[in-house]
Amino acid sequence: MLLSLCIVSASTGASTDYWSPWVTMTSTDSAIINWRGEENGSGSIDYAKTSYFDAHHSYETTIETKEAATYQHVRLGGLDPNTSYTYRVTPSGSDGPFANRSFRTMPESGPFTFIVFSDPQKGSEYEEKQRFKYVADAIEKEPEILFILIGGDYNGHDSDGLWSQFFQVADGMLAKDAIFPTIGNHEYHNSSGGDNPPTKADHFHWSFDIPLNYSFDCSGIQFIVLNTPDPNNANGDDPHTSLALAESQEPWLRERLDDDTLLGSFTIHHHPIWDYYNATSNPDLEPRESLYHAYNISANFAGHTHNYQRYSIGGIPYFIVGNAGGRCADLTGDSAPAGYIFGMNKTLGYLKVAVDPAKNTATAEEWIVATVKEDDSKEKPNVFETPKMIDRITFPLRKQSKE
Ligand SMILES: [Fe+2]
Repeated sequence: MLLSLCIVSASTGASTDYWSPWVTMTSTDSAIINWRGEENGSGSIDYAKTSYFDAHHSYETTIETKEAATYQHVRLGGLDPNTSYTYRVTPSGSDGPFANRSFRTMPESGPFTFIVFSDPQKGSEYEEKQRFKYVADAIEKEPEILFILIGGDYNGHDSDGLWSQFFQVADGMLAKDAIFPTIGNHEYHNSSGGDNPPTKADHFHWSFDIPLNYSFDCSGIQFIVLNTPDPNNANGDDPHTSLALAESQEPWLRERLDDDTLLGSFTIHHHPIWDYYNATSNPDLEPRESLYHAYNISANFAGHTHNYQRYSIGGIPYFIVGNAGGRCADLTGDSAPAGYIFGMNKTLGYLKVAVDPAKNTATAEEWIVATVKEDDSKEKPNVFETPKMIDRITFPLRKQSKE
């Protein structure tokens, strides 16, 4: 039986056992190429500058995997900054390579544009291909995107089937743009049912192989990715925020923000600090809220609530970008916090942020690709021919520009 399974797997490179590559942790001189292949498999990566590849239709360099693993995470080093690379992964046990894909390394300075979205997960009544697909396809068509921040909840629970769906639906987008993932509460959800304890968020860790709190730089701007779901504070399989978790992150976060050389700083975490349904901020996240204002971050991004919301808190923009596919959450009632500026429900969309460090500005635009009639339904969304911008704000990266 085992033997026959192996043969099937080896002869079906296009099966869902194999997940086409995705790129994480790009820097000015490196990138990590990830894919899922056969169990304890290996593989090779051919790559070249895209300009070289387009001229010669061949690659400059080949590297082999070093470890036998189902999920591979291979670092390409020695790259040039602000340069597009084309690569091709050939996984072991398959009929041939995955199709060519590309990514761009970080610039050392100058303007750049990134995208933020969150909560692409399925609903009860529909799959990711019925909602998130429209968001992913629109992002794929966006030119000049340097990277994508994803706010978590990649799918409904921690299972092979649902994570395969995420990577299939996101495939075109992942073929072009590097991603920086954040963990959400659904990464811990148990496919055996919500009364069971949280999982270890295996598919998140297997897929991305990154710390739950991390930071990276781009053109002198720092991006800080923070963990909010605490499995020690779970309701069934659903981990919530906790004060203990936020306090444990405080010294690390302070160290990141306490840097005079930064031209700006953005933070992202799954659970929001400010949300429409509470007049006050989430008290569990107070340690980081204090630091955001003490160091005047450029802006904060969150997901978890499945709609678009924007706040201005002490002059800092806070965005909820949880409208990438999860079942929608109505903005009704009158308990919104004082800093609430704008929000919209029953849309599918993403936030596009253009950053210009030399001018000390960032411009964030919320683009929607479709509307839906009901929060959770199989009905085909009303997909626009081209995305529509529903919100736009320009804000300073630093409150006082650095001399
Ligand atoms: Fe969530």
